[in-house]
Amino acid sequence: MSEPVPAGDHGTWDPQGNPKHAAYAQGRHCIVRARDVKKIYKAETSQPVHALRGVDMEIYRGEYLAIMGPSGSGKSTFFNAIGGLDRPTSGQVYIDEVDIAQLDAAELAWLRCRKVGYIFQSYNLIPVMTAIENVMLPMTFAGTHADEARTKAAGLCELVGIGHRLDNKPSELSGGQQQRVAIARALANDPAIILADEPTANLDSKTGLEIIHLLLDLKKKKGVTVISATHDKEMLAISDRVLWIKDGRVDRVELRTDLHIETGSIGI
Ligand SMILES: Nc1ncnc2c1ncn2[C@@H]1O[C@H](COP(=O)(O)OP(=O)(O)O)[C@@H](O)[C@H]1O
Ligand SMILES: [Mg+2]
Repeated sequence: MSEPVPAGDHGTWDPQGNPKHAAYAQGRHCIVRARDVKKIYKAETSQPVHALRGVDMEIYRGEYLAIMGPSGSGKSTFFNAIGGLDRPTSGQVYIDEVDIAQLDAAELAWLRCRKVGYIFQSYNLIPVMTAIENVMLPMTFAGTHADEARTKAAGLCELVGIGHRLDNKPSELSGGQQQRVAIARALANDPAIILADEPTANLDSKTGLEIIHLLLDLKKKKGVTVISATHDKEMLAISDRVLWIKDGRVDRVELRTDLHIETGSIGI
């Protein structure tokens, strides 16, 4: 196994001095770049929590990246930082080489609405809205005409396999179906990046596998970059690379081609 990346104390992300990583990175467009990202949660009554201790990472356009690590290791914090949902305490996050800390509120809103599609563990659908209305919502925010939004939302629902459930509310759908609606919603404004935080955590393993393969299909068909924090070992089999996070640091980055050899010994 390759040596772990020295965490937090280097200026550029080093793909472990491994020629295979260099070959993988060759010619790829860096869509997300994290530079020495640190996050400290401070509370009045308790000790500060160092959730990220200096993460350096480059994520390439069109890849499927799994972010793996034990619970509490900082996956969601990293997810929030690279998705522009929360500000790191220090360090930089670049999306398409734009430092997102430099964006004003309107630009950040544009990024969240257009550039990134978010998928969460608990689906986060609006309960009073039907499936198709949930999928239309980001298009409404983006100013798309209602008729156009409805047509596009119906197509996306079809694409993710819930074309027959358009008028059902989330409470009338299974967990897997709700997550499909959430995926369709994430695709509403043709984002370049899909960020998924433990998207299969509340699903049984068969349904989880279907969702993983749906994300893989979207990567292939639409060329979106899929970044998914996960506990799900099934993700390993299909991810192009895996970022292992441990105690708020990059433990290592692995290519799928190397993972196959080691999967038997992985302890999550
Ligand atoms: N809003 C918060 N306030 C204080 N501590 C937090 C907050 N969110 C996360 N943490 C802490 O930061 C660490 C990393 O959490 P998180 O990023 O959610 O990990 P993971 O997603 O890998 O389970 C944990 O110790 C967690 O308790
Ligand atoms: Mg989490």
